[in-house]
Amino acid sequence: MDSQSDSKKFRNALGQFATGVTIITTMGKDDKPVGITVNSFSAVSLEPPLVLWSLAKTALSFSSFNHAGHFNVHVLTSEQDSLSNRFARSGIDKFTGVEYRKGITGMPILNEYAVCFQCKTSLQYEGGDHVIFVGEVIDFDQTNKPPLVFHSGQYVDTKDRGIVNSEDLSSTVNVDYGIYRGDFFLYLLGRAYYQMYHPIVQAMEKAHINEPAFFSMSVLCMGNSLTTQQLRHILEHTGKIPTQKDFNTMAERGLIIITHAGDAQMVTISDYGRRVFSSLLSVAQTQEEDTLIGFNAGDLSITKKVLKDIVEKTNPGIPTFINQE
Ligand SMILES: Cc1cc2nc3c(=O)[nH]c(=O)nc-3n(C[C@H](O)[C@H](O)[C@H](O)COP(=O)(O)O)c2cc1C
Repeated sequence: MDSQSDSKKFRNALGQFATGVTIITTMGKDDKPVGITVNSFSAVSLEPPLVLWSLAKTALSFSSFNHAGHFNVHVLTSEQDSLSNRFARSGIDKFTGVEYRKGITGMPILNEYAVCFQCKTSLQYEGGDHVIFVGEVIDFDQTNKPPLVFHSGQYVDTKDRGIVNSEDLSSTVNVDYGIYRGDFFLYLLGRAYYQMYHPIVQAMEKAHINEPAFFSMSVLCMGNSLTTQQLRHILEHTGKIPTQKDFNTMAERGLIIITHAGDAQMVTISDYGRRVFSSLLSVAQTQEEDTLIGFNAGDLSITKKVLKDIVEKTNPGIPTFINQE
């Protein structure tokens, strides 16, 4: 493994290992604080209490860590991504405006952290272009703040943003002026829906299927016969409730079969109707793939969860007829 592209691939592969993020500090020869962002930090031993991390030989802070004999490891909180970025930059004065105090070994301790380990450098090992520092933990302090997580070259968003309140929601709309912001949820939901739905509408028009027929077939393909009254009830939320004329037209075209049970009128999908609906469903499936491929899988899973929660919360009493998984 010696080409540049191999080493890039290796770096990417290593990035698949999710880690916390630390800032490790020490004192420079001139008694100035020195610090660096590090995610190679790891536990080594409980008895004696040992930790390790590796430092690039090219780091400007290298000689300070090499000579100081002590260092402090700050496990960062989920709020400290900017501080992490600042301490990952070489050649800037990283401590400007950053408050710290000296710990029991005289090394700098930042004001905020999830955990702080004060360490004495007990061993150093050669590690290729890095040097591995093993430190004996002399003291540590733990706050219960959530940690910053790093994966695949970026911070994972684990911030607890609390519960949505009416202030958050009302800020996206100005009802007095009749205007709304681009992050008004209903605007986003509606626009995403219309844009994704458009190719399906076009396919329906081509097949001379109107929306009440499309929705009716989508329900009937899921199961057995329904009364027309049941089907209308299931489709109430769409605003595209099939009329008797719609049912008659669908039956005349051979898409559904109408039968009678006592007073009730029953409808069932025909084989031809299922084939027509399948061809429209395949347009919908292609549209979903074209749109969603490349999205972050975690984001998509959260979006689906939120949409399911909305469906449940706004359900006017429509029975579930669809497999939820
Ligand atoms: C999340 C993250 C983790 C890092 N981990 C390490 C590490 O373990 N060891 C290291 O030498 N550099 C690591 N770096 C890079 C250093 O923070 C960066 O090179 C820094 O600019 C070095 O500072 P200095 O030149 O002032 O010493 C990391 C950077 C980031 C953003």
